[in-house]
Amino acid sequence: MGIAFPEGFLWGAASSAHQIEGNNVASDLWGLESRLPERSGDACDSYHRWPEDLDLVRDLGLSAYRFGIEWARIEPVEGEVSRAHLAHYRRMVEGCLERGLTPVVTLHHFTSPLWFQREGGWRSGTAVERFRRYVRTVLPILDGVSWVCTINEPNMLAMMAEAMRNGHHEGGVAGAMAAPDQAMADTLTDAHRAAREELGTAGLRSGWTIANQNFQAEDGAQAERDAWAWPREDRFLDAASGDDFVGVQAYTRVRIGRDGALPVPDGARRTLTGWEFYPGALGDAVRHTARRLPGVPILVTENGVATGDDAERVEYTRAALAGLHAAMADGADVRGYLHWSLLDNYEWGSWAPTFGLVSVDRETFARDAKPSARWLGDVARANAL
Ligand code: FCB
Repeated sequence: MGIAFPEGFLWGAASSAHQIEGNNVASDLWGLESRLPERSGDACDSYHRWPEDLDLVRDLGLSAYRFGIEWARIEPVEGEVSRAHLAHYRRMVEGCLERGLTPVVTLHHFTSPLWFQREGGWRSGTAVERFRRYVRTVLPILDGVSWVCTINEPNMLAMMAEAMRNGHHEGGVAGAMAAPDQAMADTLTDAHRAAREELGTAGLRSGWTIANQNFQAEDGAQAERDAWAWPREDRFLDAASGDDFVGVQAYTRVRIGRDGALPVPDGARRTLTGWEFYPGALGDAVRHTARRLPGVPILVTENGVATGDDAERVEYTRAALAGLHAAMADGADVRGYLHWSLLDNYEWGSWAPTFGLVSVDRETFARDAKPSARWLGDVARANAL
């Protein structure tokens, strides 16, 4: 007898539009990718192959699929709505429902339309109203969606914007990154609230998804940890108080000493992103979130590991789920677990970090479920570890 999860617990896999669809040519990142080691290109061609992706999720035995709606496709030119793209995403929502899958839909996952960026992006005084207008545009296609994520990792988004402005574009964990511009953090918070207002008028449940870095105090540096975490993470969590749910996304931890973030210790086990292999991240992140947001249901919207060794993915995920279960046994109200990622996808500048439960041939786009996908499907079917 394994460790049982509550009845109705959601088990799924996650993706984002830009990372799998391909040819997101009206987005702000498309042009910038020439400066990155690798481009997204056709990505996994999921813009066309999404029915195959949904079939895979269902056939594995999972019950939920997280995917993104791409603002740059819906509104490629300011004020001009693409009805064809709206219809496309509506078909995806219906495709989930027809297969018995619970859709978890993200409205903004790092990328914005290029026109939005050119006019100042999240730093423009009109950003909130532009985002609100986009959310209003997509309301009709969200009918039947019970989990809407407004903005993915606003904390990472704001830190990356700050890093880009300073001329660095290192990706990955934000541990060592400069704190986000707090004015931009305020704007993102306002945009989230505006989106929730619009979604609420249509009776849709919504929340945002926060990158949890598991900032841990080293050598008694508790005050320094708290000061470090506030602008980078905790203020974004606190802004979710009163929301319908909050998304927890956790991969690793970052240790904080008296002078800020500490590097991964020499000799520590690492993943393909260079992050410390630390499956305890999920339980820690859920506990931290539950403490800061009493009464707000939690959905794990991302957790996973970049590895070329699929057995390591099972090892990581099993340990992460055990930590999650222990946090739930201690009272955290967690409604589901979505693994990052369904597919080996474009990781913001590189194809090297493979997070997928399913591999994708880079030329034919053929999908192949890895043993870890079948393992997670079995866990989902049993609703137990
Ligand atoms: C998160 C992002 C997601 C993916 C994972 C590895 O920060 O939301 O798109 O890149 O990290």
